[in-house]
Amino acid sequence: MPLELSKVEDSDIEEYVRVELAGFHGDPVALIFHGCDVDSPPADIAALVAKVRKSLHEKKDFHKIKVCDTDTGEIVAVAQWNFQRAKTPEELEKLDIPNDAPPALAAILRTYLGTGNQIMGAKPYWKLGNMVTHPDHRRCGAASLLMRWGIEQMDRDGLEAYIDASPDGKLLYEHFGFKPAKEVVYEFSDSDIEVRETHTCMVRMPRSLTTEMEE
Ligand SMILES: CC(C)(COP(=O)(O)OP(=O)(O)OC[C@H]1O[C@@H](n2cnc3c(N)ncnc32)[C@H](O)[C@@H]1OP(=O)(O)O)[C@@H](O)C(=O)NCCC(=O)NCCS
Repeated sequence: MPLELSKVEDSDIEEYVRVELAGFHGDPVALIFHGCDVDSPPADIAALVAKVRKSLHEKKDFHKIKVCDTDTGEIVAVAQWNFQRAKTPEELEKLDIPNDAPPALAAILRTYLGTGNQIMGAKPYWKLGNMVTHPDHRRCGAASLLMRWGIEQMDRDGLEAYIDASPDGKLLYEHFGFKPAKEVVYEFSDSDIEVRETHTCMVRMPRSLTTEMEE
């Protein structure tokens, strides 16, 4: 399976979302983040597509990238690397939680953003916002290509990178030199949702890939 990395274009968004939802199927925290699953009603998936499309066009510090199988043209894996600019003390204090976020999403975002701020502070850094390989294409090196893209940016900029790792992702990130900084528990329950999932917040210091391979 020959793999090729490129930037996500507007015409990729439906497939980008399909890969993302298929890859995170069954993950309760991802379900809250996305607001839908791969088997959700089309209108719910269309709402996520619209949100991802808006982010592609409006959030210039969010870099959405994809890996395609060049034999079939299919997208097999996607990621979003965010360049986090230096924050003022006020920005560090105020978490960017949309006013219309449902309670479960607001709770998860509070933990996600609050922990990131606590670990990384006000300095600029690269942050992996999302990383997923379609279940039919795992262990073929697709996510590794997406990781290398982010590592090239952080090493070029001399900046650290931050990742909130799911249990699956942790093994991949360790492979690329990320070290655990803190365990975080995502918890929420109401009459419809019951979530408790532990993630590992991980940090990597900048270093050139060449140096890393020589060690
Ligand atoms: C984590 C994930 C993105 C890995 O994608 P992938 O394309 O299969 O990863 P790669 O093939 O590039 O793997 C690179 C290395 O990472 C490690 N690795 C990746 N997945 C692993 C797993 N399930 N178990 C053990 N090691 C794993 C291995 O060292 C692997 O190298 P190897 O195959 O030569 O042993 C994929 O399992 C996934 O989409 N999981 C569900 C979504 C998710 O949790 N994403 C992370 C969010 S933080």
